[in-house]
Amino acid sequence: MLNFETLQFEDFFKNHIKLLYVEDDKATFDMMSLVLNRFISNIQFANNGEDGLKYFIEYKPDIVITDVNMPIMNGLELAKKIKEICVKDGSSVEIIITSGNGNSRQLIEAIEIGVNHYILKPISIKTLQEKLTDSVKKIYNQKKSLALQQLLKEYKYAVDESTIVSKTDAKGIITHVNKKFVELSGYSEDELIGKSHSIVRHPDMPKEAFKELWDTIKSKQIWKGIVKNRKKDGSYYIVDAIIIPIVDINGEIVEYIGVRHDITELESYKELLKSRLVEKEESLEEKIHFLREYEKAIEASASFSRTDENGIIKYVNDKFCNQFGYSKAELIGSYHNIIKHPDNSDVSFYKHMWETIKSKNVWQGIFKNLSKNEKTKYMDTTIIPILDRVGNIAEFFSIRFDVTELVELSKEIEDTQKEIIFTLGEIGESRSKETGNHVKRVAEYSYILAKEYGLSEEDSLLLKNASPMHDIGKIAISDHILLKPAKLTFEEFETMKTHATLGYQMLNKSNRPILKTAATIAHEHHEKWNGKGYPRGLSGENIHIYGRITAIADVFDALGSDRCYKKAWEMSDILELFKQEKGEHFDPLLIELFFKNIDKFIAIKNNFHD
Ligand code: C2E
Ligand code: SIN
Ligand code: SIN
Ligand code: SIN
Ligand code: FE
Ligand code: FE
Repeated sequence: MLNFETLQFEDFFKNHIKLLYVEDDKATFDMMSLVLNRFISNIQFANNGEDGLKYFIEYKPDIVITDVNMPIMNGLELAKKIKEICVKDGSSVEIIITSGNGNSRQLIEAIEIGVNHYILKPISIKTLQEKLTDSVKKIYNQKKSLALQQLLKEYKYAVDESTIVSKTDAKGIITHVNKKFVELSGYSEDELIGKSHSIVRHPDMPKEAFKELWDTIKSKQIWKGIVKNRKKDGSYYIVDAIIIPIVDINGEIVEYIGVRHDITELESYKELLKSRLVEKEESLEEKIHFLREYEKAIEASASFSRTDENGIIKYVNDKFCNQFGYSKAELIGSYHNIIKHPDNSDVSFYKHMWETIKSKNVWQGIFKNLSKNEKTKYMDTTIIPILDRVGNIAEFFSIRFDVTELVELSKEIEDTQKEIIFTLGEIGESRSKETGNHVKRVAEYSYILAKEYGLSEEDSLLLKNASPMHDIGKIAISDHILLKPAKLTFEEFETMKTHATLGYQMLNKSNRPILKTAATIAHEHHEKWNGKGYPRGLSGENIHIYGRITAIADVFDALGSDRCYKKAWEMSDILELFKQEKGEHFDPLLIELFFKNIDKFIAIKNNFHD
C-alpha cells in the first residue's frame, strides 16, 4: 500500500483512507453517505457516539467525521475519548466536527480537544471536499515522511558500510568518519575528528586541485574526482571521491559529506606507466622492451591492443578477447571501434582523445565499451602513441582495465546519495522503535553465517549490506498493530505477515543490486525450513540462502531484545529454542554453524547493545 514512489495522491485518497462517519439524523446521514462514497471507498458508519467509539477502536480509521448533537455520547465527548486513545497509543487521527449551530462555547471546546475541522450545517459539498482534502493531504505527507525516514536510515547504513565516508563542517573540519575511512587512513577516529580534512592530503596533489574542489563545493555543487591521499604512515591511497555539500533550508552550506572508493590498485598502474613511458627518455626499443616486460606482469589483468594510425587493429592479447568475447581472427583487421558503445555520443570526448594521441601524447580516460554479447564494459584506458625512428606515429598501443564494477558501484552510490539528499529536506519526525543497533547486529550475524557457509566475500558483503532492510515492509503496518504492547490477535498477525511481501514489492522496483538483494531477503526472511513459514510456505533449499541466513539472524536478535510486546529472553532459553528449531524453522546446517560460532554472536550482541 505505501509505496510512495508510485502511489498517487488521488489513489491514496480514494482507496487507502479509512473513514468513520457518525451521524444520528437519518436525512443528513443519507445525503452525506452518498457524497462521501464518491470520495472515499472505505467508510464505516455509526449513528451515535457510543457506537462511533466502538467502531473507532475496532476499525482504526484515519479520519472521523462526527455530528455534535447526538443522544448517547455527543460528538465532542466522542472526539475527546478518541484523542485520549491516540495519545495513549501514539497514533494520530483527523477529526472533523459537523454542527447545526455556530455555538462559540462548542467551538472553543472543539479547539481544546484538538479537533481538526469544524463544518457548519447545512453542509456544503464544496466545504466538505476542501476539509477532507486538507486532512488527507496531512495524512499522506505524514505517512510518506515515515516511509522515507525509514528508508533513509537503511540507505545511510548501506552507504556507510560499503564506502569510505567522512563529514566535515563548512570550514572543512572533520566531524564524522566511518570505519572504512579509519582503516584506510591509518588514523584513529580520535586523531581525525576536529582536524582539518587536509590531514590526509598528499604532497603530490597539486594545490590547484583543492582550489577547484573547494570552489565547486562552496558553490553548492557536487564535486567528483580522483584524489591521492596520504596515510598516517606516509604511504598513499587513491580514492575516487564524491563530495556533496549539504544545504539547510536557508540555502546555507552546513556540512560536506565525502563518499569515496579505494582505487589505489588501478591508479598505481597508471602512475607506473606514466613515469616509465613519458618522463624518461628511452629509445623505442627500450620502450617496447619495457612494455613487453610490463605486459607479462599484468597480462592477467589488462587488455592490450595495437592499432595502426588509422585505427585498424593489428594485435590483441588473450585477455582482450576474453573481455570482449571476440576471437583474435574477428578482431585483427577490424576497426578498433568494433567495441564502441552506441551510447557514446559525446563527440568532444573522442575529439579530445584523438587530438591528444595524434599530437603524440598519452591519453587516459574511461571508455564505455560494448562486448560482442552486448554487455556494457567500462574500461579504464591508456592509449600510448608509438613513434618510429624518425618520430612519426607508427601505431597506438592501448591498455584497458575493466572497471565496470567500480563504475557501476559508484553510480549506485550516486543514485543512493541522490535519494538521501532529496529526502533529507523533507523529513520530519521519526517513528523509530527498534534502535539502529538492531539492524547493525542483524547485518553482522548474517555476514558471519554467510562466510561460514562458504559464500564469497562479495556475496557475503552484499547480504550484510542488504539484510538491514529485511523489515522495511513494516512501514506499511499501522501503529496500532506495530506498536501494540501485547500479543497480536489472529487478524492482526495476518496483517503483520504482509510486511514480507510489501517489503519485497517496495524494494524489487529498484535496479540496484543491493536493493534487489534486499527484496529477496524481505520476501523470504519468514519462510521456514519445514515449509510452515510465510508468505509463500517455501521449504528447504527453495528458500534463498540469504533468506535462511537472515531468518536466524533476525530471530536471534528479536529474542535477545526487548520488544514493545515482550521482554528479552535469557541466552540459555534462546539457545534451547534454536536447538529445537533445527530442521524445523531453520536450516540444520546453518544451525550447526551458528552453534560453532556462538561466541562471535554473543560478542556482537554485547558490542552493539541497545
Ligand atoms: P520481530 O519482533 O522482529 O520478530 C522477528 C521474529 O522473531 C518473529 O517472527 C519470531 O520468529 C521471532 N520471535 C520474536 N519474539 C518471539 C517470541 O517471543 N517467541 C518466539 N517463539 N519467537 C519470537 P514472527 O513471529 O513472524 O513475527 C514477525 C513480526 O511480527 C515481529 O518482528 C513483530 O514485529 C510482530 N509480532 C509478532 N508477534 C507479536 C505480538 O505478539 N505483538 C506485537 N505487537 N507484535 C508482534
Ligand atoms: C582532501 O582534502 O584530502 C581531499 C578530499 C578527499 O579525500 O576526498
Ligand atoms: C575537504 O575538506 O577536502 C572536503 C570535505 C570532505 O572531503 O568531506
Ligand atoms: C585506438 O586504440 O586507436 C584508440 C581508440 C580506442 O582505444 O577505443
Ligand atoms: Fe520480519
Ligand atoms: Fe527484524
